[in-house]
Amino acid sequence: MTDPIPTVLVLCGGLSPERDVSIRSGRRVAEALRIQGLAVTTADVDSHLLATLTDARPDCVVPLLHGAAGEDGALADVLASFRIPFVGSPADAARFSFDKSIGKAAARSWGVPTPPAVALPHSMFRELGAKTLLDRLVAELGLPLVVKPTRGGSALGASIVTEPEQLPAAMVGAFAYGDVALIEHCVAGTEIAISIYESGGEPIALPAVEIVPDGVLYDYDARYTAGLTEFFCPARITTETAAAAADIALTVHRRMGLRDYSRVDLMVDGAGQPQFLEVDVAPGMTETSLFPLALDAAAKDLGTVFAGLVRAAIDRQLADRI
Ligand SMILES: Nc1ncnc2c1ncn2[C@@H]1O[C@H](COP(=O)(O)OP(=O)(O)O)[C@@H](O)[C@H]1O
Ligand SMILES: [Mg+2]
Repeated sequence: MTDPIPTVLVLCGGLSPERDVSIRSGRRVAEALRIQGLAVTTADVDSHLLATLTDARPDCVVPLLHGAAGEDGALADVLASFRIPFVGSPADAARFSFDKSIGKAAARSWGVPTPPAVALPHSMFRELGAKTLLDRLVAELGLPLVVKPTRGGSALGASIVTEPEQLPAAMVGAFAYGDVALIEHCVAGTEIAISIYESGGEPIALPAVEIVPDGVLYDYDARYTAGLTEFFCPARITTETAAAAADIALTVHRRMGLRDYSRVDLMVDGAGQPQFLEVDVAPGMTETSLFPLALDAAAKDLGTVFAGLVRAAIDRQLADRI
């Protein structure tokens, strides 16, 4: 007797500012899984979701929600409470990695280099008197700076500060996307991303993708408008730097307790040292996204990889390890 075809529910959309990107990621992965012969439906995360989960009872859920909607661990907790197998990191690991300031603190404690930074809540920014504090931070961290929300994505609310007087506006821009702004030293160098997927429970680092946006930041437009950014994969970095970057990415994936797949963003500084910026537990899967590019470079197929992750998630549940 042959095994029945697994039913898979791909979740995408959600209410985050990255809704459109998530829908594009969801469509792409759903199609890739269909080509693998799986029975795939897609759904949004809305008031119908719980009914869909209980009525349709999919064999596995693939959450492809970007931003807080899918990366702060809440959805993973909901799926686990319904005892539905899902692809991706467990709730606590997602929670830990979603906040950039917490992720950086953890990385630093494991000896992973990360640019100096300060996380400043909106309330403290107002209460302490912005000017004196910001002058102090500029002196401490050194210009240029990058200001971004601690819990954001797709570079929304992120900006570069090259002159001290630009800092207040940059802070306000970050606060539009969250209550805490991360003020981080801006690393001049090469931006790379290392995508990771697990095979047989072992994380594998894919070749580094180098990102060359047409502006300074790899911002929202640069990410999702075809042709605005140049990618090099493998990245134009030395073998030693590539190995150090893969090592950092695997350390972060393992020690944060991440599962199935992730993507680590790094800046390689002038000395060739990769510096950890952040890790995504639900990286983009669109036509212009880094994870699928890295798979292509390694001659791996997105559908085959995700079908493997679906099977692993179903097996976890059979072994009672959702
Ligand atoms: N410290 C930094 N130095 C240089 N560039 C940075 C730094 N932090 C962020 N960037 C730029 O901003 C973009 C977004 O930052 P990142 O930390 O990856 O957050 P997210 O992708 O979640 O918005 C990066 O892709 C990079 O282009
Ligand atoms: Mg990023």
